[in-house]
Amino acid sequence: MVGGLESPYHAQPMARTRQHLLRLGTVVGATLLLGGCSLIEIEDAPLTTFEPAGPFADRIDGLFWPVFWIAVGVFVLVQGAILVAVFLYRDREGAKEARQLHGSPKLEILWTVIPALILAGVAVPTTAAVFDLTECDPEAMEIQVIGHQWWFEFYYPEADVYTANVMVIPAGQEVCAHMTSDDVLHNFWIPALNGKRYLVPGQTTFLRLQAHEPGEFWGHCAEFCGLSHSLMRARALALEPAEYQAWLQAQQEGAPVPEEETQEWDGLQVFQNKGCTQCHTVRFEDDSLSLVVAAEAFNGPELTHFASRSVFAGAVLPEEGQSREDGLKEWLADPPSIKPGSFMPNLALTEQEIDDLIAWLESNE
Ligand code: CUA
Repeated sequence: MVGGLESPYHAQPMARTRQHLLRLGTVVGATLLLGGCSLIEIEDAPLTTFEPAGPFADRIDGLFWPVFWIAVGVFVLVQGAILVAVFLYRDREGAKEARQLHGSPKLEILWTVIPALILAGVAVPTTAAVFDLTECDPEAMEIQVIGHQWWFEFYYPEADVYTANVMVIPAGQEVCAHMTSDDVLHNFWIPALNGKRYLVPGQTTFLRLQAHEPGEFWGHCAEFCGLSHSLMRARALALEPAEYQAWLQAQQEGAPVPEEETQEWDGLQVFQNKGCTQCHTVRFEDDSLSLVVAAEAFNGPELTHFASRSVFAGAVLPEEGQSREDGLKEWLADPPSIKPGSFMPNLALTEQEIDDLIAWLESNE
């Protein structure tokens, strides 16, 4: 009897059985919970790191699994030793005392050297990979990634093309992301294609990206960067090289100027008269009409080919199952209600103005 509590090992047999069952239940429950994680479908976890889709993500995956299994081995050995000690030498009638090993130099050296060797074995290939994953091949195609609160901008210097939220790349080719930030620290992360890398104001960092096959891969800003950090998302869209070239060529064209007395024309008037042009550039087929934001001005996404992007508003909209139109209505009615802190203000547009604006934006493929 200690502190009024009965030691469980001296309890009645029934109470002991109940306690054992309770413990067994806890273990089974925890196992099911952990096992359940592996049952989550990839569609439900688009940011999973367990589905590498390119050579650089493969490299990380190839490091992860051996390190994971080494850790599992160490865990099983250490926990196993603890369990053996707990059961063999627990406090019970007739229990034997464990051998006292305090101050054994042989053991001290052994359990220092073995972990040191394991850690060195893990560190060498990891360090090599960390450098390899950020040192681009000199032949790789350059795409600039510029972080903004709270969206990613992509610039294709060879074609002089700007786009936002969706980074279009050719499948099977290495892309070298030259990355920086326009305001605070961000971090560009497309888990299926490579690890994370910082975007630092005033500096350029590099990240190698490549997809084996065409496909759409989810990305996310991986550094807390302010109020809507959790809503700073991205997509990488890998296309067949020929399709990619066609996309790039189309992006170099200007937007058509809508015919007068159409809804698209009305939408363009809203765009020009409600302040949108202070932040958003649109280039027209007739370049003399282009609305270009000054380089030093506050910069929002270029909208010339807005309708060619599958997502908008920091790749947050449209939500799953939502139409583009409904997403745009929600966004244009009150951007800060979607992305708290958004630098795009609520312009108090009327429903008619919003409908017109959507008609014009969606005509710019
Ligand atoms: Cu940008 Cu978090």
